[in-house]
Amino acid sequence: MTRACFFFAAIVLLPRHALAAPFQNALLPTGVQADHVYSLWLVMLITCTVVFIAIVVAFGLALWRAPRATESTPPDTAVIRTPERRLTRAVIIGTVLSIIGLLGLLIASVVTDRALASLPLKDGLVIQVSGQQWWWQATYYPEDPTRAFDTANELHIPVGRPVLLRLASPDVIHSFWVPNLSGKKDLIPGHTLTLQLRADKPGVFRGQCAEFCGYQHAKMGFLVIADDPQQYEQWAQAQRAPSKQPADDVQKRGQQVFLNSPCVMCHAIQGTSANAKMAPDLTHLASRQTLAAGVLPNTRGHLAGWIVDPQHIKPGTNMPAITLPPADLQALLVYLESLE
Ligand code: CUA
Repeated sequence: MTRACFFFAAIVLLPRHALAAPFQNALLPTGVQADHVYSLWLVMLITCTVVFIAIVVAFGLALWRAPRATESTPPDTAVIRTPERRLTRAVIIGTVLSIIGLLGLLIASVVTDRALASLPLKDGLVIQVSGQQWWWQATYYPEDPTRAFDTANELHIPVGRPVLLRLASPDVIHSFWVPNLSGKKDLIPGHTLTLQLRADKPGVFRGQCAEFCGYQHAKMGFLVIADDPQQYEQWAQAQRAPSKQPADDVQKRGQQVFLNSPCVMCHAIQGTSANAKMAPDLTHLASRQTLAAGVLPNTRGHLAGWIVDPQHIKPGTNMPAITLPPADLQALLVYLESLE
């Protein structure tokens, strides 16, 4: 029993205190919504553990006390004539306890649901998120053209401020899940669902599509970066600005390579003639930490690999391989890396 208690304590306490850097972990809530989900999880874990232990003990006792018989033992017919009062009582007690336990869990779920829905949204930041195959398109301030901007696969949010995510999808169902900050919410074609969350501490949290949406569902990750409000405003202002103009001849050549390649059929770079919305907005590509929806670190080598052979990294992706002479590829990489 002591050992069981120790294991139980280890399971519950270890994630909160032993792991230093939260990355993607529902047991390390960093926002009020994830806290509600974590509390519900604790209630369910404790209740189910108690029930499981009670059942195992009852089963062990029944085995221990079962009458032992051999081939020569005469049949015991006494039970046929006597009413099974003790058994009936045990069944009634078991049924009542089960109903109380299930009702308790139901009430805890409803209370959690109401708590999740009651996050005050005053002064909230609105972000429109669209699930694509297989990446995340985000539009900040969708109702205010003077402040709106697009980004992809990396959301920055201000600490302490509520965020209202409007979730949509053009074709298949995805599910938006940042375990450290909130529960899941589906993105359903034809509907716009909302998810509200708030980060209460700064940090970088990984999110993951949580609904099978095709071949590369597992490689549909993203980052949510909770910044201090001032830092967030700086980031938003930088994202709103058009792309940096090429600063030297190599960057100029890179921009020309980009604008003369099939890249412009799908991507946008604000401040140039490229403004397609089929694929991630690249206006501030270099400010992001990852490429290809959380799959690769954003380095020159990985960017080169992604441009030259995306199907090897993410088979089935809509990104086609782009074949370029080496000098053009180098110039393109230098230009893309300058887009901070
Ligand atoms: Cu999108 Cu799974």
